[in-house]
Amino acid sequence: MKIITAAKDLRNCIERLRLPSHTVAFVPTMGALHEGHLDLVREGFKQADHVIVSIYVNPTQFAPHEDFGSYPRTIEADIEKLEKLGVAAVWTPAETDIYPDGPATDIHIKGVSEPLEGEFRPHFFDGVATVVARLLRAVEPDVALFGEKDYQQLQVVKKMVAEQSIPVKIIGVPTKRDDNGLALSSRNAYLDKKQYRIATGLNKILKRLAGGQISENQALTELETSGFNKIDYCTVRDALTLQHPDQNTSEKRAL
Ligand code: PAF
Repeated sequence: MKIITAAKDLRNCIERLRLPSHTVAFVPTMGALHEGHLDLVREGFKQADHVIVSIYVNPTQFAPHEDFGSYPRTIEADIEKLEKLGVAAVWTPAETDIYPDGPATDIHIKGVSEPLEGEFRPHFFDGVATVVARLLRAVEPDVALFGEKDYQQLQVVKKMVAEQSIPVKIIGVPTKRDDNGLALSSRNAYLDKKQYRIATGLNKILKRLAGGQISENQALTELETSGFNKIDYCTVRDALTLQHPDQNTSEKRAL
């Protein structure tokens, strides 16, 4: 497995991998890899001949008060996990590869990036759309894989590649959960025992909300009584438009 830092080495590596007519799947990550990320890689191998993974903690998707500085960085363990799966190359770009002139331009995706997470973390999806566009333009993969756990991010990325005419197929991969039903996430490392126990209730409550057994208000009350505090939102949305089902009804997701 190649560990690439310089952008020129990335191009050489990809050109070689593509010969004679091989396809490339790409999994962008911020590292601290868990089984959810590894599922993206496994799906990549079903979709293409080679898999490339990037590890880059993207500063532009963190607000100044967020956890950019303390975000878990476990590069050696990450490399070991990827090597075992047969990944062709890991790209760990420097900030100057991604933002040579600093974060001078932003991609803003109207519509899907604006409600929900967009309302509470206004910087977030511009940072994600911008970095993903830059990573995709550097790697030029045939397919790129993203977790359904970050469901709104997946919709933003799909819209971004369509609007920016980036020729890549975006594939969403189902959420990987632990034995207690908690979605795997690098940030689960922040949870102490009590917080972890509270977090395992989330999936059960959201499933009943999406299934129509309880209302949004009931779900909110159940979340609060089970120990969640400072809840930003708890709502059912259309899976494609992220509009409330009162405005648009095709398939429901609880977010
Ligand atoms: O989901 C993530 O890990 C990040 O948002 C991504 C897509 C790698 C962009 O930095």
